[in-house]
Amino acid sequence: MPASSTPLLCVGDYEDYAKDKLPAMVEDYFMAGSSSEQTVKENTLVYKRYRFRPRVLKDVSKRDMSTTVLGSPVSCPVGVAPMSMCRMAHLDGEMGIAKACERHQLPFGLSTVSTFSIEDIAVGTPNSVRWFQLYIFKERRLTETLVRRAEASGFSALVLTVDAPFAGRRLSTMRGGFTLPGHLRLPNIDASDGIFKSLRTDAAKVPYLEVVGSQLDPSITWDDVKWLLNFSRLPVIVKGVLNAEDARKAVSHGAAAIWVSNHGGRQLDSVPTSLDVLAEVVDAVGGCCEVYVDGGVRSGYDVIKAIAIGARAAFIGRPALWGLVHKGTEGVVNLLQLVKDEVDNAMALLGISNLGELNRSYVTHESLLPKL
Ligand code: FNR
Repeated sequence: MPASSTPLLCVGDYEDYAKDKLPAMVEDYFMAGSSSEQTVKENTLVYKRYRFRPRVLKDVSKRDMSTTVLGSPVSCPVGVAPMSMCRMAHLDGEMGIAKACERHQLPFGLSTVSTFSIEDIAVGTPNSVRWFQLYIFKERRLTETLVRRAEASGFSALVLTVDAPFAGRRLSTMRGGFTLPGHLRLPNIDASDGIFKSLRTDAAKVPYLEVVGSQLDPSITWDDVKWLLNFSRLPVIVKGVLNAEDARKAVSHGAAAIWVSNHGGRQLDSVPTSLDVLAEVVDAVGGCCEVYVDGGVRSGYDVIKAIAIGARAAFIGRPALWGLVHKGTEGVVNLLQLVKDEVDNAMALLGISNLGELNRSYVTHESLLPKL
């Protein structure tokens, strides 16, 4: 771990710091991948296999990394993915992430399973680019209520997570007997009557993951995307797509955007990394909607690789938790700043002044490099 006086200069420094500080049960929960953890490991390694192909002697004295996501202006093509129970990292939790993103004008997703409520986040970050991540529960009334609350609270999109009809088998979390720490609540679902009532009254003793996991509706189909679009006025981003066939279905069922994701390696193990299937998805939708990507993004250089392949924006998950562990809200602000600095540096050294100039000729898979 870097000494406390040593500045944290890259996301890896934050990771080392956080791993040293977090209680074992929380670290297990945050870091866990499913089954053999092949996908979670590959998610980060894959970025090293794509190499930059820079151009030289281009005027890069002025650079602009701003863009838009679903029409909202953002300062850089990076955001923070929805993650459950962020207050286990620091009491600032999801509010800290939301404030940091608001400060940087970057998008973030609030998880259904958040430790701050939809309404708290809206009041605390009135100018944020905020999207609400949705699970479809067996009890549809609960899902509908969540959508209405997100609409009323100024969230500008729904992120429908489609790779979790059941929870993945995260062995480290199962072995550690994870439960939600007793001082934390899940206000988005606590506020509902019925199935989750027990979490409100006896959170510390409830096998949390089993309860929430058992309430996810495994019978959902593409028709449910239409169901959602019929009663919600918010655009729907479909998160968890990993192939061309599903990408085309998402478009034909009305998705406003596709989020290429393997849930940070926490659902089906041994699926490909998001980066490896990004080009397939981008090509399948042929510009009909925006495509986002997450999983293993650990630097601004990684962000630029994803944008060059065709993503509109790349999202970080766990790194935001590590920022929280370091210094709460300020830690996430600092971490996002360093990622933005890296994006800027990558652009300058690649020889581009704005993101519109980026294309696949600026990256190549190492297997395609000329062999001597
Ligand atoms: C997640 N992720 C997630 N996704 C989602 O749609 N709803 C959720 O509630 C959660 N919760 C969650 C908790 C934790 C601790 C992690 C690490 C991840 C997945 C998340 O949105 C994103 O897809 C991955 O985290 C991206 O991968 P990296 O950046 O963490 O490697």
